Parts: sequence; structure tokens; C-alpha cells
Amino acid sequence: MVDRTRPIEEEWVAVDRYIADRLIADDPAAALAANAAAGLPEIDVSAPQGRMLHLLARMAGARRILEIGTLGGYSTIWLARAVGDGGRVVTLELEPEYAGVARANLDEAGVGERVEIIVGPAIDSLVALEGPFDFVFIDADKPSNVAYLREAIRLTRPGATIIVDNVVREGAILDAASDDERVQGTRALFEAVSAEPRLSATAVQTVGAKKWDGFLLAIRD
Ligand code: SAH
Ligand code: DHB
Ligand code: MG
Repeated sequence: MVDRTRPIEEEWVAVDRYIADRLIADDPAAALAANAAAGLPEIDVSAPQGRMLHLLARMAGARRILEIGTLGGYSTIWLARAVGDGGRVVTLELEPEYAGVARANLDEAGVGERVEIIVGPAIDSLVALEGPFDFVFIDADKPSNVAYLREAIRLTRPGATIIVDNVVREGAILDAASDDERVQGTRALFEAVSAEPRLSATAVQTVGAKKWDGFLLAIRD
């Protein structure tokens, strides 16, 4: 047995570092430094999670990716690297300031030409979009997750991948009486996916630098 003298959360972070040190030589960490310098919230996916999204997109053979929730573009860089030279990522962000930081980060990472950032409330941008997309990553305001799922289904074809971030929230999703609208939005997402015959889905819990959380993974049938 490992002799644990540190809090478990520190162990999770140390293991994330162990993983990154061995398997992730190409972490676009400059984007995180730029985000911090600009005062953006540190709510990007972790490096192992970003690389997982990148690998899932490549496994799916995705050439057209839709992301909802850009922040500073850290996850966007991982996804843009997956689509290859002729590929395309469309990413939606409410805050013009964040989108500006993301634009600089994407250009600096050498993938700017593949990425279109659309600024504004994502639901307004989504209804004006045309698909099909091969892969959708939903990671914005959690109360809108059901609306985003509906648009993701409209904008995809059978075989497409849909992934949603932050669906566990340190276990808070178990609380049916929660007054946290992010929790209620996530619970509503589970119900919507459960009732949706066009999706096969699971959710996987994660621990690490982003604490205890999880991803919902679905394929469009
Ligand atoms: N995917 C990013 C993190 C996104 S954080 C990464 O892992 O690197 C969530 C983002 O969603 C924030 O930047 C926030 O401004 C944005 N957001 C919140 N509400 C939104 C809305 N209604 N429309 C579009 N974006 C929204
Ligand atoms: C929050 C949003 C995220 O997308 C995330 O990964 C972590 C936290 C938030 O709004 O608090
Ligand atoms: Mg997230």
C-alpha cells in the first residue's frame, strides 16, 4: 500500500503530474500562462483531460468539431490539433474578453486558422449554425446543458460523438433538492439523455487537478 501522508486531493494532483510528465510532451501550457496573466478563471480542463479529448476526437476521426464554452481556448487547442490541416473547429464563447485571449492563444499554438470563435450567448449562436459536426464538446453554463444537448443532436448525424464536462461536481449531482442551478442543470441533462433514444451514453467520474468531477460521453445512434 502507498503510505499516504498528504490529503487525497494532493495525491490526485501528483498523479496528474506523473501522467503528464510521462505521456504529455506537448501540453499547450503557454495558453494557461496567458489565461492567468489575463485574469481568466482557472476552469479549463486539465492536461490529461485535454489530451483525452484530443485522442477521443482522433479516435472518432472528427474533422468538424463544435465546442460550447471556449474560455481561453485551452481545450480548443487540444481539439484543433485533432482535426488536422483541413479540419475545422467552431467554438462558442459569451465573453468577448475571453474570446480575445483565446484567439491569441490559438494563433500562438499554430492552430488559429482552423478555429472560428463565435462571441455571444451560445444558444443564439447555435440556432444560427448549420452542421453536420462529427464531435461536440459541451462545457459552458451548466443550466443550459439540456438546450445545448438538443442543438448538438440537431447539428450531428448518426455516429457523432457528444461529450459534456463537469457532470459529477464533487458528487453534488446526487442532491435532488440542491438549490445550485448548475447541479439542477446537470441532473436535467442526465434525465434528457436517459429519455433520448438517439443517444447511447455513459458518464465517467474523474479525479485529478480538477478535483472530483466527470464527463458524460454519448454517441449519436
Ligand atoms: N472549455 C474550456 C473551459 C470553458 S469554461 C477549457 O476547458 O479550456 C466555461 C466557459 O463558458 C466560460 O468561458 C464562460 O464564459 C462560457 N459561458 C458561460 N455562459 C455562456 C453562454 N451562455 N454562452 C457561451 N459561453 C458561455
Ligand atoms: C466551472 C465550469 C467549468 O466548465 C469547469 O470545468 C469547472 C468549473 C464553473 O463554472 O465553476
Ligand atoms: Mg468544464
